[in-house]
Amino acid sequence: MKFFIANWKANKNSNEANVWIERFLSLPSLYDRTKIVICPPFPLLYLLKEKIKNTGYIYLGSQDLSAYEMGSYTGEVTAKSLSGLVDYAIIGHSERRNFFKENEDILFQKARYAKKYGIEPIFCIRDEKDQIPEEVKIIAYEPIGSIGTGKNEDPENVIKVKKSLSVSSNSLFLYGGSVEKENAHVYLQSSELDGILIGGASLDPVIFYQIASLA
Ligand code: PGA
Repeated sequence: MKFFIANWKANKNSNEANVWIERFLSLPSLYDRTKIVICPPFPLLYLLKEKIKNTGYIYLGSQDLSAYEMGSYTGEVTAKSLSGLVDYAIIGHSERRNFFKENEDILFQKARYAKKYGIEPIFCIRDEKDQIPEEVKIIAYEPIGSIGTGKNEDPENVIKVKKSLSVSSNSLFLYGGSVEKENAHVYLQSSELDGILIGGASLDPVIFYQIASLA
């Protein structure tokens, strides 16, 4: 069962999210082959939750969550507030590390709170040097030079990075960075890779569907 994570980043409003999910659900179910995780902006989670509830294979993820557990942190979205709403959370995306200066301490704290509140972290690393919290079971390798550049990394290199990590052998390992419908198959063919994280190409429901249906 391969994972397909749709990372919408800071795109779409509620109308656009509605159109996306209606179109996606109008296509034949991928129930037996895939686990789809849609990661929209926070305000769109409830709308999508309602639409996916009977699918059995589409899940929700947040693109981030707070490093604080609760309290006087205006504007923060905590793991506690997301629990029951999302099953997954992307943590440590290179855009968070870069634009929002999230360091290892912050990311480890986020992963800890995610777990505490029943949310599975999808922990992103940029290379083999990034530290991975022990409790993390899903790792997404996203080399910076491949994100949004059209320069996807060769699957052989991706597998090399996987093998260089000292993580539990039952961790899941995903690749992300310029995955398109033309190149997705090279990652899906390998039993070493458990799925893909898709940014740009996830914004169109038909393209995202075409990628997921390669599973
Ligand atoms: P991309 O983004 O597919 O647009 O390269 C991937 C990501 O940043 O998660």
